[in-house]
Amino acid sequence: MSKKTVLTGITTTGTPHIGNYLGAIKPAITASEQPGFESYFFLADYHALVKCHDPERVARSSREIAATWLAMGLDTDKATFYRQSDIPEIPELSWILTCMTSKGLMNRSHAYKASVDANQASGKTELDDGISMGLFSYPILMAADILMFNADIVPVGKDQIQHIEMTRDIAGRFNSTYTELFNLPTAQVDEETKLIPGLDGRKMSKSYDNTLPLFCSSQQLYKLIKQIDTDSKQPGEPKDPDSSTVFQLYNCFANEAETMQMREQYLNGIGWGDAKKELFEFLDEKLAAPRNEYNRLMNDLPFVESVLLKGAEKARAKTVPLMDKIRIAAGIRPLPFVPVEQLKKVKKEKSAEDIARAEQGRRRGILMQLKAALDAVANSDEPNLAAAQLLEEKTAKLATLKAKAKDRAENELSILKEELAKFSA
Ligand code: TRP
Repeated sequence: MSKKTVLTGITTTGTPHIGNYLGAIKPAITASEQPGFESYFFLADYHALVKCHDPERVARSSREIAATWLAMGLDTDKATFYRQSDIPEIPELSWILTCMTSKGLMNRSHAYKASVDANQASGKTELDDGISMGLFSYPILMAADILMFNADIVPVGKDQIQHIEMTRDIAGRFNSTYTELFNLPTAQVDEETKLIPGLDGRKMSKSYDNTLPLFCSSQQLYKLIKQIDTDSKQPGEPKDPDSSTVFQLYNCFANEAETMQMREQYLNGIGWGDAKKELFEFLDEKLAAPRNEYNRLMNDLPFVESVLLKGAEKARAKTVPLMDKIRIAAGIRPLPFVPVEQLKKVKKEKSAEDIARAEQGRRRGILMQLKAALDAVANSDEPNLAAAQLLEEKTAKLATLKAKAKDRAENELSILKEELAKFSA
């Protein structure tokens, strides 16, 4: 059985937080260690430009996200780990797909519609106000990311499912217009992944500004944990672990026994201060080793860069040959290039024509040589007799000839017979 290709990317606009790690990076690393899968993970830095025009932030985020994957144990011999902008075939494919994508499909994109709705809600008359073409067509760039590697499985958050559906649509359009070059990918949404709550209890997300960074200092981590919202129960009062953000965050990193034990403590009325201290000590210990590695990598960026460049080389071993096929399928070709199927067809048609043309030429040549004899027959007093005599002569002569000359004479005789048919009685 051939390996399934798994591919996912992270947009380089923010500092990796615990939600990113548990929701995307950790399951991806685990999947890349399974046999039967070929993994492609990348920094979606061209996607970053859609929403972020702060170059320092994009550059910083790229460093942080790259170092995070490596610090968390991604084995780059097992997975192909690269930066989108190191693969020029991706934006190239993106353009070809842009020409295959109906504008109506993009009009239906949730990300675009949300921006239009926001403009409407704020009373703007220009509904496309502040919406760039990048935002409008970014599902096409995402389709190029996926199709460039013919990915089978794309692990994404729920908000990205529509983009995978659009990718299938666009791939189908290409396949039926040109050549079947693309696989139709499937979104993989991990329903199992627990919702990772942020400091305020809502989903941990950059856009809610409620995140716990994965690699801040111990002091910073403790400070943030102390800010987590709790109810007003006093120490000694039993607490409901399942509605507590502090408990849920603990749960995300704990094994079953640890979770059970902590649950007990909540039911027994642990104070919030102590519960937060427990969470801090637990997380701080879990993150200590990767944090050291992260800091080491952030202080050795030339090394991280070299890892990405090696990944790009591995990735381009796939993208360069596929892009050649895509270009050729669409008619972007070296001038003398003729596709194999067409070569076969052209050859066959040509040879049939050639045979007919050559046959006509030969016939004309023989007729020219016979012209005098034919005229003599036509002009004789008894053309029928003259014709019969001529044929007799030629037939008799045939017997005296050998192979090649005989062939030629036979050919001549058959033409002569046709020409003299009108004189036969
Ligand atoms: N758009 C995705 C996000 O915001 C990131 C992304 C870009 C991606 N290209 C991709 C995810 C290709 C999966 C496959 O989360």
